[in-house]
Amino acid sequence: MERLTDAAAMRAWARREAAAGRRIVLVPTMGFLHDGHLALVRAARAHGERVVVSIFVNPTQFGPAEDLAAYPRDLERDLALLAPLGVDAVFTPAPADLYPPGFDTFVVPGKLAAPLCGARRPGHFRGVATVVLILFRLTGCAAAVFGEKDYQQLAVIRRMTADLQLGVEIVAHPTVREPDGLAMSSRNSYLSADERRLATLVPRLLERIAGELASGTRRVPDLLSAGHAALPDRPELRLDYLEIVDAETLEPLTTVDRPAVAAVALVVGTTRLIDNRRLIP
Ligand code: PAF
Repeated sequence: MERLTDAAAMRAWARREAAAGRRIVLVPTMGFLHDGHLALVRAARAHGERVVVSIFVNPTQFGPAEDLAAYPRDLERDLALLAPLGVDAVFTPAPADLYPPGFDTFVVPGKLAAPLCGARRPGHFRGVATVVLILFRLTGCAAAVFGEKDYQQLAVIRRMTADLQLGVEIVAHPTVREPDGLAMSSRNSYLSADERRLATLVPRLLERIAGELASGTRRVPDLLSAGHAALPDRPELRLDYLEIVDAETLEPLTTVDRPAVAAVALVVGTTRLIDNRRLIP
């Protein structure tokens, strides 16, 4: 497993591999890896001959009041987790490497970035799209793997990849969950034991909505009421959003009469957890 610590080394590696006719698959991460990331890495192998994992806590996708400084980091542990998986290269740039002095060009995603997390985290998807484009360019990847847990992120990246004709295959990987249903996330490490127990409400309320749909309820206000009813009134919990949107456009629906997604962001203590569930009428 090669360790590439700057943009020039990454580009040189990518050029060498491309010249040898090898297809490169990228797994972009912000590190502090868990089994969800490792599942993306294992899936990557099926899409090309070389797998590169990037580890970069991207400052431009964090708002001024968000957890950039506190975001969990443990590079040595990450490298130890990746080594047995047959990863070919790990790209660990410094911020100044991806955003050199004078950096002033961003990708601004359109409508797909407006609702849900985009409405609550202004500029978040601009930062995500920008860094993902930079990573696509530096790694020369032919394919890249993203988790479905970040459903809106996946939609924004697919749109950007198509609109800017990047020629990268976007591979979506199903959300990897803990045995009690909580979606794996690096931010789960912030939760205290009590908060961790409360966090299972996130998948449970989505399950409640799916169950209500399965029993014939199609009106979105009724489905959302079922979801709200699954949330106890506790001071540690603050619902940031619970919405049911069209699975393609992410526009709000009044009736689930086409493929839809129930998306939730719940703050447990001080940790904001997101999750989503596909709803098929
Ligand atoms: O999903 C993430 O971890 C990040 O948003 C990504 C795609 C690595 C970009 O920083």
